[in-house]
Amino acid sequence: MRARAGLLIAACLLAAACREEGTDYRSETGVVPATEQRPGDPEAGYAALVNAPYVSCGIPHDAFTRVLPETDPADLLPGREGLNAELPYAFTAHENAEGVTIVSSNCLTCHAAEIEGELIVGLGNEFADFTQDPRRLVLQSGNFVRGDAETRAWERWADRVDGIAPYIRTATVGVNPATNLTWALMAHRDPETLEWSAEPLMEPPQAEPLPISVPPWWGMRDKEAMFYTTVGRGDHSTFMLLASMLCVDSVEEFEAVDAYADDIRAYIASLEAPVYPHPIDEDRAALGAAIYARGCATCHGGQGTDYPNLVVPLDEIGTDAAYATAATDGSRDRFYEWIARSPYGDAESAAPAPGYIAPPLDGVWATAPYLHNGSVPSLETLLSPEDRPRYWRHVLPRAYDREAVGWRFEVLDEGQAAEPDPELRRRIYDTTRHGYGNGGHVHGADLSAEERAALIEYLKTL
Ligand code: HEC
Ligand code: HEC
Repeated sequence: MRARAGLLIAACLLAAACREEGTDYRSETGVVPATEQRPGDPEAGYAALVNAPYVSCGIPHDAFTRVLPETDPADLLPGREGLNAELPYAFTAHENAEGVTIVSSNCLTCHAAEIEGELIVGLGNEFADFTQDPRRLVLQSGNFVRGDAETRAWERWADRVDGIAPYIRTATVGVNPATNLTWALMAHRDPETLEWSAEPLMEPPQAEPLPISVPPWWGMRDKEAMFYTTVGRGDHSTFMLLASMLCVDSVEEFEAVDAYADDIRAYIASLEAPVYPHPIDEDRAALGAAIYARGCATCHGGQGTDYPNLVVPLDEIGTDAAYATAATDGSRDRFYEWIARSPYGDAESAAPAPGYIAPPLDGVWATAPYLHNGSVPSLETLLSPEDRPRYWRHVLPRAYDREAVGWRFEVLDEGQAAEPDPELRRRIYDTTRHGYGNGGHVHGADLSAEERAALIEYLKTL
């Protein structure tokens, strides 16, 4: 960290371009510049990812076993040590300083998912339900907590969940509130000491999170910035620890986790996209490859073009503007300033651009629904903008559609406002809501039905 701070100061002196309090955190659209990453050991990174207590508070284990159902064997992962070997992949157990065994959610809550019978680490979870009040689990588990040490552990966790609960409820099942969650945690922490304050120290984020679709980790082989808005430049390993910030209350705790963050990053950057598990029509895919080379590769890379790390301006890409606008209109600057003052990053890591990065398309067969807000349910509808459904709902149990490429969905006549039953309402993806729009990215609109089918066949090979 210190070396980077030194470099930044040197760059500032040379370029007279220091960013300080009150400065503009934005960067330009166009190509995201490359940053050298801290080297790490991918194998050690996987072990840390699935065993280490980077989220250091949670539910006492005994209470946990009372409130969560039996573990499905399909949810077990290899390489898990001790109690973790018996827990579903999204949970990690560890013993806290008082000897209480705690269970907490790990990165795989959002970054692992099943598709076509296989659990894939790194695939974004597009079925997580953030529409419910997270305090429900806190209250349920509280009934089973015994003794002072367990009670203290539970209270610590309950306190944190209370701090974030008002900011992480999405309108629709499947979309993710992760950035609001992170902003809410920042609002409760001193950026320099990382000490927690029950009262927010700065204005928290807006109450309703903007919907986000979780990008697949294997894109980090090529991506220079982590987020769609290109926040998360510079040292990715430290920046991604923002996602484990729930209970990191001191710089010492931060440093203990940061010590293996380089390995976790190396593991993530070593991942490869899963291979499409069904037959592919090679001749058709070859026709599609030519269409891709002509109309898609300049932005997404492939077909002889290196992945360009290109941020396309909002007015050019035309997809829902809410997320990139909120990132660049100054309303989030207090959070970027928090990052710059904290050990998690610097002013360079928090440099959103007013547009969206064109993601690498490896494994795109598996990453539906599409676009940064998950508003388009299949590749077929993405590439045929007139057919994109205004209101839609996943068919449950989830079923993969090899033709349309994505999860099966039903088209509805009306949106959330017209659905009185809350259980049905929260499953409706309503593209008329703020941030949920499905317009823009009209690439592919001028293709014939045959050409579109060929392009989709090719996309399955990536
Ligand atoms: C609550 C859900 C959630 C959790 C938990 C979570 N993430 Fe994420 N992660 C996201 C979302 C959403 C994004 C995309 C944000 C954006 O682009 O604005 C993301 C983006 C990323 C990316 C960039 C991926 C890419 O292809 O651009 C990395 C790397 C990452 N997270 C690592 C982690 C690590 C490591 C952890 C655990 C310490 C973690 N995340 C925990 C939701 C989560
Ligand atoms: C001008 C640059 C540009 C061109 C050309 C382009 N795209 Fe994109 N593409 C983008 C950007 C930017 C995004 C992200 C937009 C967002 O999420 O709001 C994107 C997103 C996507 C996604 C969604 C990925 C996901 O997992 O959510 C797919 C699929 C895609 N593009 C396919 C294509 C195909 C196929 C073509 C060629 C017909 C194409 N794109 C042409 C810039 C481009």
